[in-house]
Amino acid sequence: MTAQLSPIDKAKYVAARRAVEFVEDGMRVGLGTGSTAAWMVRCLGELIRDEGMKITGVATSTRTAKLAAEVGIPVKTLDEVRWLDLTIDGADEYDPNLNLIKGGGGALLQEKIVATASDQMIVIADLSKQVDTLGAYPLPVEVIPFGWQTTKALIEEMLSNLDVMGRNSSLRLNGTDPFRTDEGNFILDLHLRRIGNPTQLSLVLNQIPGVVENGLFLDICDVLVIGNADGTVEVRDINNGTVEHERIDINDTENLFVETGE
Ligand code: 5RP
Repeated sequence: MTAQLSPIDKAKYVAARRAVEFVEDGMRVGLGTGSTAAWMVRCLGELIRDEGMKITGVATSTRTAKLAAEVGIPVKTLDEVRWLDLTIDGADEYDPNLNLIKGGGGALLQEKIVATASDQMIVIADLSKQVDTLGAYPLPVEVIPFGWQTTKALIEEMLSNLDVMGRNSSLRLNGTDPFRTDEGNFILDLHLRRIGNPTQLSLVLNQIPGVVENGLFLDICDVLVIGNADGTVEVRDINNGTVEHERIDINDTENLFVETGE
């Protein structure tokens, strides 16, 4: 079945397959959002179905919760579980220190809460997400709808004092309407091109009234699994300082899936 996958989906799939090897019986697992994370959710469903693995999932979005239910993962809320053993999620960008931009799918708030409530965060990605310096991908910032244009103006004014290359922002749309997050908020995408000091930017952004959270995930990711279309993966562990290369067998996925729905 994986023979029908595009090269990019193969890369995402093998990253997901390798990442679920970190999951052990009985674990409470944060389930990320996005097309790469959707592969991971389906791989976990396969482990439950075929190997009888018992896990509890905490979803980071309504669409991940729906997919998890479809593939047979028991899902609880974070309030029911309180703390997680690990979270596996995708990313829009990662830098050499495994700092991330997330929120391309609009789920950054729940994703950050869930990842922060986890002993370990494992990020799954392909090489297209790799950058030397964060910022080429527009930085998503979740803002409350009330007074969003004032919040946008305040953000743009604040950016003029920070080490970034671009200062424009745009309201994310869903058709002609504003995109709404699961919490009913809006997303502003900041077109910064280069973020010189992500820590400073994150702190300053979150001090602006109206900003709920930003998509910089700094010092949160422990392990990065990079998948390649040829079936190889690279596993970078920031805590151990190790980098390992492996090959994933992708021929044993007869009962798996074609469409990720993402
Ligand atoms: C959703 C996210 C995703 O993890 C990120 O957008 C990557 O998505 P994909 O795996 O589809 O490229 O942060 O809010």
